[in-house]
Amino acid sequence: MSKSKQIQSEVWEKALASRNRKSSSSTEIRFQHGDILKIEWWKDCDVAFANSTCFDRKLMRGITKLSENMKLGSFFITFTKELVSEHWKILNAKRYNMSWGAATVFIHQKVK
Ligand SMILES: C[S@@+](CC[C@H](N)C(=O)[O-])C[C@H]1O[C@@H](n2cnc3c(N)ncnc32)[C@H](O)[C@@H]1O
Repeated sequence: MSKSKQIQSEVWEKALASRNRKSSSSTEIRFQHGDILKIEWWKDCDVAFANSTCFDRKLMRGITKLSENMKLGSFFITFTKELVSEHWKILNAKRYNMSWGAATVFIHQKVK
């Protein structure tokens, strides 16, 4: 490992340890590899993010339908394409520069 990578790693570990000391609760993170339309991802989901710039209409419609199972007040962030649903209110839509180009970031909140 290079010296700079080692320093970065030490800084990261220190930040993580400090964060864990301050935090009174732990967060469980699970990674699931599969089709988003076939996994029950919405069950305990308070904040969802879809890097959806290249998603087609069928996929966006499927995600939107499943997202309607999320809790009231939860958040869903999408790129380029919004969730078209009366269950979701767009709180903010703003263009940001990504490493690969500009994309509109939609922040939705579940209202119904
Ligand atoms: C723009 S890339 C995002 C890459 C990376 N996950 C990120 O957020 O930086 C969109 C990703 O959506 C994934 N994807 C497309 N259809 C999907 C589906 N039905 N279920 C799960 N993932 C899907 C693609 O495989 C691709 O990795």
